[in-house]
Amino acid sequence: MLRLPTPSLLGLLILNAVPAVQAVDFKTQILPIFEKKCLECHSAPKMVDGRRKNPKGDLRLDAAWAMLKGAENGPALVPGNLAKSYLFEVVNLPKDDDMFMPPEGDPLSAAEIALLKSWIEEGAPFGEWKGNLEGAPAEVLAAKPAAPKGPREHELLYAELSKTLKAADPAALEAAKAKGAQVFQLKADSPLLRVDFLTGVSRCNDESLQSLKDLAANIAQLDLGRTVISNEGLKALAGFKSLISLDLRQTKIDNSGLVHLAALKQLRHLNLFGTQVSAEGLQALSALKNLRSLNLYQTQVKPGALAQLKSLLPKAEIVLQ
Ligand code: HEC
Repeated sequence: MLRLPTPSLLGLLILNAVPAVQAVDFKTQILPIFEKKCLECHSAPKMVDGRRKNPKGDLRLDAAWAMLKGAENGPALVPGNLAKSYLFEVVNLPKDDDMFMPPEGDPLSAAEIALLKSWIEEGAPFGEWKGNLEGAPAEVLAAKPAAPKGPREHELLYAELSKTLKAADPAALEAAKAKGAQVFQLKADSPLLRVDFLTGVSRCNDESLQSLKDLAANIAQLDLGRTVISNEGLKALAGFKSLISLDLRQTKIDNSGLVHLAALKQLRHLNLFGTQVSAEGLQALSALKNLRSLNLYQTQVKPGALAQLKSLLPKAEIVLQ
């Protein structure tokens, strides 16, 4: 006979269905992706059947120093900066693009891309891992091991924001998922959430954003990149008082949408890459004194406006090109 789980067990099952994405660990979560999908072509030169096999595109991804150094097109990885991290760009290109990676075999899954993204945004920490030091520049070989650090800044912030928060309501989680949201816990024991729509960005519209309203206070990271949300739809962000990171890359957002972000007092990272915003519209963000990074690559903001924006948002690292 089929037996239904008791209601309390059901609640547990739903909560367990929210995977935790606490600070991404390079060695156990990112390295295996590279090993499976990149290193065959991007490792130190080696002899294969008596012939020397060089890394493709002259790029090695088998060492931390090599990723940071990159190849012809500059660094493959810029910690904290997705737009400048070429290795992230190439896995997100259209599949028929000449530079789409990997060129053969399985592409990265949506979950793998989400992990890679979080890891780069968190500052791409390698932990103890150094990788293959063969061919490394002298300063890398001479580097002393880093002194152990205290808790990282974002961990202190998560703790602070979590203090007065309850865990998300299971019914609210289900409502969000029904509209295509992927919801992750930032840490196994944290009420804070990361939400994206990476399994179907073209179906994520204002209504999908509305479906998050009962989770609003818990959402610390929200990725709306490449979705079809509108300026008007951003009004729904009013209750997102824990929002630390907001990605609006390559959406139809322009200056009239920015006014709805003015109340996001905790916002640290804002990605407006490929939107139509201009320096004039960014004045609306002057209250966001916590902003640490602002990506304005391929927007209407002109290099001449940079100095003024820097005085408006003194703590923010602004990426223009
Ligand atoms: C089957 C071989 C192969 C695999 C697997 C592969 N690549 Fe590549 N990769 C290439 C080739 C070939 C090029 C050079 C393409 C060109 O310049 O036109 C390249 C170039 C690149 C570049 C540009 C280097 C530069 O600065 O010019 C990046 C970044 C890159 N690959 C990242 C990756 C990542 C990340 C993975 C894993 C997800 C990956 N590749 C998997 C073959 C591969």
